[in-house]
Amino acid sequence: MTDISRLQKTFTEKYGGEATAGFFSPGRINLIGEHTDYNGGFVFPCAISFGNYCMIRKNDDGKIRLKSMNMPFEAELDLSELNQKVDQEWVNYVIGVFAQFLKKGIRFNHGIDMLFYGDVPAGAGLSSSAAIEVVTAVALNDTYQTGFDAPSLALMSQKAEHEFAGVQCGIMDQFASAMAKKDHAVFLNCDSLAFEQVPLRLDGYKILISNTNSPHKLDSGLYNQRVSECGNALQILRQSVDISNLAQLGNTEFESLQHTITDPVIRRRAKHVVTETERTKKAVNYLREGNLRAFGELMKASHLSLKHDYEVTGHELDTMFEEALKIEGVLGSRMTGGGFGGCTVSIVASDAVDDFIGNVGSGYLRKTGLEPSFYVAETSDGGKRIF
Ligand code: GLA
Repeated sequence: MTDISRLQKTFTEKYGGEATAGFFSPGRINLIGEHTDYNGGFVFPCAISFGNYCMIRKNDDGKIRLKSMNMPFEAELDLSELNQKVDQEWVNYVIGVFAQFLKKGIRFNHGIDMLFYGDVPAGAGLSSSAAIEVVTAVALNDTYQTGFDAPSLALMSQKAEHEFAGVQCGIMDQFASAMAKKDHAVFLNCDSLAFEQVPLRLDGYKILISNTNSPHKLDSGLYNQRVSECGNALQILRQSVDISNLAQLGNTEFESLQHTITDPVIRRRAKHVVTETERTKKAVNYLREGNLRAFGELMKASHLSLKHDYEVTGHELDTMFEEALKIEGVLGSRMTGGGFGGCTVSIVASDAVDDFIGNVGSGYLRKTGLEPSFYVAETSDGGKRIF
């Protein structure tokens, strides 16, 4: 937990006086179920202790003032300007959420001063943008007493990402940031939004986050391309079977239909979604049974599917994955989030964590020339008011 008095000090320096309320929403890691959310499949993320803070106070001059402690650019907007994108990236995540409130018929009757602070490592694929969106949604909901429930705030935050950041993302990141529970992972059906909080019983093991610090980042173009490839696959398969999303197909059914997709790239994309959905359901059952070893095996299979069929890993993520599997005491490892760069998650015996950090760190550096970072994951609750 970040030192709130430091945030208050900056708030006072910028706006004079203290913030009257503070909020926090977490980033996330996904344990399994990757690139399934926008295909109506299952995901299994948990929120982490890194996230975004928002300090606020109402004002009487009808202005929305936005400042961040770790991102450049400040904004001062009139209440009438909340539907327009600006040039600066982080501000759009906030304005995008304001715009969703407007769309729901909410009229803001006073201005607000907001200070943001994020401690999610930048560009690590741990959902810093969802954390900003959700913390904004939770803060506005509380300040203007709009009464939306947490799943609605997650959906509004996802819309903000679609409309103001141009990423056609699924619901996983915003849902995890809004709904997560400490010491649990959320088993979410992204079609119906039915979910279950599954206890993370890791007796003797830790989840280690390995940040590739790769210059390659997930960009909206590559991401949206995968979304549209899945759309193409669905369209073709629907000529033979009555489904409304790819994740509705089982492995066997897919095997008998896959020849109808003539483009091998599109076929592989669909194969990943179908097999990953099956893996996620199985993995959650293994966790419930306390079979971490079998869970870990499915994590490895997930990574390989993302490498060969979905093609969203790359040299850095693959190297981190391969180096991790050399360590005794590692049950499983995989890339987490959208891919291309960012992080892997590994399940590591508690007494092997130091060995992992030392040896994976040096092996990865040797093969990529990049210095990685490691964090032992601490889980967190979803977005909430903190004072
Ligand atoms: C990004 C998106 C999510 C999800 C993951 C891949 O994090 O924001 O909606 O699609 O990629 O699983």
